[in-house]
Amino acid sequence: MDASAQNISESLLAWYDAHARALPWRAAPGAPPPDAYRVWISEVMLQQTTVAAVIPYFARFTERWPTVEALAAAEDGDVMAVWAGLGYYARARNLLACARAVAAMGGRFPDSEEALRALPGLGAYTAAAVAAIAFGRRAVVVDANVERVVARLFAIAKPLPAGRAAIRTAAGAITPHERSGDFAQAMMDLGATICTTRAPRCLLCPLSDRCLARQAGEAESFPVKPAKAAKPHRKGHAWWIERHGAVWLVRRQGKGMLGGMRALPDDGWIAGRDGTAVPPLAGPWQAGGSVAHVFTHFSLDLNLRLYSGSDWDSLAAQDGEWWPLERLDEAGLPTLFAKAARLAQATTGAGRGDEVIQ
Ligand code: ADE
Repeated sequence: MDASAQNISESLLAWYDAHARALPWRAAPGAPPPDAYRVWISEVMLQQTTVAAVIPYFARFTERWPTVEALAAAEDGDVMAVWAGLGYYARARNLLACARAVAAMGGRFPDSEEALRALPGLGAYTAAAVAAIAFGRRAVVVDANVERVVARLFAIAKPLPAGRAAIRTAAGAITPHERSGDFAQAMMDLGATICTTRAPRCLLCPLSDRCLARQAGEAESFPVKPAKAAKPHRKGHAWWIERHGAVWLVRRQGKGMLGGMRALPDDGWIAGRDGTAVPPLAGPWQAGGSVAHVFTHFSLDLNLRLYSGSDWDSLAAQDGEWWPLERLDEAGLPTLFAKAARLAQATTGAGRGDEVIQ
């Protein structure tokens, strides 16, 4: 370990000596390690669950089954019942499988990361955490809190999940050979109490003078999140039918998005697919440009068609109303259709074209 890495781990351990959270599965900083069974149970419970939520479950669980042999002999249904409320029930099933395997091996957990990893249902994170915390083995323990601390400390710019490899390498470079369990838990406590996702309390951080993200004034930007998946894109049509200073408006069906609102007639793009392009009247139709709109779950190109015929009477059989153009702003059109109406009014009379309104 180079001098700056050593310097980081020493500062962190000194901070832990003063500020470690007292938790029921923990030994005090610098004290001999706690029982592997209790470490293992706590680490499984703490995956996807907060420390505050785990504490009462951990107490009930270890009181009822104080040893790995006791747990191995438990009824599945009893374990599931005590687990109820913690969620992610596969964890409880894996826990039982693992307890039975350890009991069959004589009731002692293996003390290396590699041998722990070979137990049923015991993943890479748990193996590293138990090896470090219960057996003092040097292991690189990276959970979401550690990930955030390391990504900030080294301003690792590669977005997750690809950035995890660089984060792990950097975490490995600062993990000491001594007190590796305390070091892992110090990183977790720092992440949970100071290097928080939002509004990190850098003024209290023992590593702030070496934190590259903080130096750049960008602690909160790390770890870099993956770009959001692109929204689906849809195409649809809306129909502008004008007669003697009034436009044909319909009332949208249903309770869903835009349901119950007045609108121009359209071709069904809202139903999770492109529109059918089937107009409410036979035609003739002219191009009226298009309107781009972004909804929460998709983006839409709405192609506007302008009616240039005079067979208005065939609309009489359809639901709708003639709405006077001079009061169009009182129709309560949703933004998409208000944009389309503006486009139609800008193009009717003023030369029809391919104008695009954003
Ligand atoms: N989260 C996961 N493991 C933990 C531990 N040992 N202490 C605090 N938070 C944790």
